[in-house]
Amino acid sequence: MADKRSQWKSETGFVLAAVGSAIGLGNIWRFSYMAYENGGGAFLIPYLVALLTAGIPLLLLEFAIGHERIGSAPLAYSKINKNWEWLGWWAVTFVMFGIVLYYVVIIAWCLNFFLLSFNLGWGGDPNNYFFKKFLMVSKGPSAIGEIRTRIFFAVAFIWVLNWIIVYRGVEKGIEIANRVFMPLLFILTAVLVFWALSLKGAGEGIKAYLTPDFSKITKPKVWIDAYSQIFFTLSLGFGIMIAYASYLPEKSNISRNAYIIAFLNSGYSIFAGFATFSILGYMASAQGVKISEVVSQSIGLAFVAYPKAMSLIPGGSIFGAIFFFCLVVAGLSSSISIIEAFISAMVDKFGYRRKPLITAVSVLGFMGSVIFTTNGGLYWLDIVDHFLTHYGLVIVGIFECILVGWFFKLEVIRRHINRISSIKVGVLWSFLIRYFVPVILIIILLGDLYNEISKPYGGYTWTSLILIGRDWVLATLAAAFVFASRPWRTEKRNEKNRESIV
Ligand code: TRP
Repeated sequence: MADKRSQWKSETGFVLAAVGSAIGLGNIWRFSYMAYENGGGAFLIPYLVALLTAGIPLLLLEFAIGHERIGSAPLAYSKINKNWEWLGWWAVTFVMFGIVLYYVVIIAWCLNFFLLSFNLGWGGDPNNYFFKKFLMVSKGPSAIGEIRTRIFFAVAFIWVLNWIIVYRGVEKGIEIANRVFMPLLFILTAVLVFWALSLKGAGEGIKAYLTPDFSKITKPKVWIDAYSQIFFTLSLGFGIMIAYASYLPEKSNISRNAYIIAFLNSGYSIFAGFATFSILGYMASAQGVKISEVVSQSIGLAFVAYPKAMSLIPGGSIFGAIFFFCLVVAGLSSSISIIEAFISAMVDKFGYRRKPLITAVSVLGFMGSVIFTTNGGLYWLDIVDHFLTHYGLVIVGIFECILVGWFFKLEVIRRHINRISSIKVGVLWSFLIRYFVPVILIIILLGDLYNEISKPYGGYTWTSLILIGRDWVLATLAAAFVFASRPWRTEKRNEKNRESIV
């Protein structure tokens, strides 16, 4: 007899856990930068359109698949059509043995910077400090060099935290952790936002953040960026939301939860953007330069621009400590979600005992992270991230819509949502899933492929892009087919789905 499926203690616990997965490093730095680069306030239009036309529909789809078929991604897909089990495996594998490996390393940097904040340990030149002293970046991806000890130990520590939380189980580990993490994150972020708003020059920053530049929204790139950001930020195509929804009890208000989660996540991004831009405005005014000169991209924003500002503002060490602490908390609640999604998939199919499996997966994950802690680690991180987030997520999204929309009766899923949810889902949703979302994703994919072959990404050599990036995608895909080809060791595949229960 298989173990009983884990369950959330309450729907609020589920909502907090899904929000915890969605809100991550991406909300804090990726969103702000994208908004700035893509027309400030005008970016909110494509962003919200993307949220309504693709983000929420897909979130609903993933919740409904997990809940109605009662399974993690591979199990749920195989109960839809047994030839498609690989798709679920691929999602959980490339996130577990790809994205999360370097994601944990970035959390580890944040942890280091949290400690450095107390005495502003980055000194007078944060740029030099971060790249030359902290990362000691080598010449290129082939020059791996040595492991950076302080990053290595922080990575080990983060993996131990991940392990402890997931080990304690869905209800006692993940749910409780998020019940603490999420309110804490909201309060601390609010402190940062109001503090930052009170700084001199903040108004200029906010102006740069929100002033709409409508000329930009006619550019396809802005729309593509908006759709990709929505996809990443809602953890869609990761197999996470499917697993999390499978732990919901029979009576659960799926659609209302999906709306709450989506709005909390985007609301958080927009809110946190106020802190970032106030800080940039402050720096520009303190140094007497234009905002455009102090803005920097993702990693530079958190590890160079912020530290610079922290050294300038009164009480900056406390501000910095809170900021990096928020990043650690936001990151952890995301990383535990994929570990759970992968574990859930293995338990569903092979019937392994959870606890030893979690230990083994955490150790493997830790070992996989090590490559990103070396002198060449930053390049590896950049390349693997580029390939997995551009291709992995998008391809899974396309197939997900095609599989459920075309090879299956989408009506079954829609009826299921409507049977148990307070907000009803109409035929517009079916249209979005069957036609609109896959078309948008295919356009994004083709645009990416075109850019890929027209010039090597990030100025790397073709050899490193192929060996590190493309092969990482292919290796995880191969692993997915292996997992899918193994025989089922549990009876779960034959268990009833919810629609057929009633
Ligand atoms: N949504 C997260 C963000 O915006 C990303 C994320 C969620 C993630 N779950 C994850 C990344 C698991 C790696 C592993 O940052």
